[in-house]
Amino acid sequence: MDYVEQRMAQEAAKPPSGSSDSLFTPLNLALLSLLLYTSYTLLFKSSSSSRPGLEIPKEQPPIVFRTFTPRTLLPYNGENNMPVYLAVRGRVFDVTRGRNFYGPGGPYANFAGRDASRGLACGSFDEEMLTKDLDGPLDKLDDLGRDEMEALQGWEERFSEKYLVVGRLVPVGGEEEAGKKE
Ligand code: HEM
Repeated sequence: MDYVEQRMAQEAAKPPSGSSDSLFTPLNLALLSLLLYTSYTLLFKSSSSSRPGLEIPKEQPPIVFRTFTPRTLLPYNGENNMPVYLAVRGRVFDVTRGRNFYGPGGPYANFAGRDASRGLACGSFDEEMLTKDLDGPLDKLDDLGRDEMEALQGWEERFSEKYLVVGRLVPVGGEEEAGKKE
């Protein structure tokens, strides 16, 4: 009787047959490594440079819609690591992603940090296309013809599709007025 009880106790203490062997089979180990590798890739690599378009730039401050005067817009010309903004008919566009066009040394760098409306309408890079008196009234463009205004509208549409509007261009003294409307 003792022997039978002893055998039963031994049997009960044993793990279910075969389980200790099958848990660590080469197939299971291979699957486990695959699972660990996939988890690691998903957790640590998905936000890295492998998907540059989806990266959130950490060093850039959030863009806040604000008002600019021709003078306060001026520093946004891509120099000294500044973003590149330009204004078209009162709307300030962030054209930083077109830095090759508007940044320092670019073919359209003359428009960076400026009201580009007249230059774009007339298809001209001449200095006199740009607002001379940075503290004076904005260029109303009321002397321009139909073709020029149409050309300007074309540029505006292109910019609206491609770039973010980050603010409004107002004359000096117009900040409070614009603030009331926003
Ligand atoms: C010799 C004459 C010109 C040539 C060969 C030329 C060439 C170009 C080229 C190749 C592009 C790039 C197009 C693209 O990939 O989207 C471009 C874009 C542009 N051009 Fe010109 N261009 C000329 C004159 C002008 C003039 C007179 C103006 C206005 C004053 C102008 C303003 C622009 C602007 C604003 C862009 C768009 C940049 C952007 O997408 O942000 N271009 N031009």
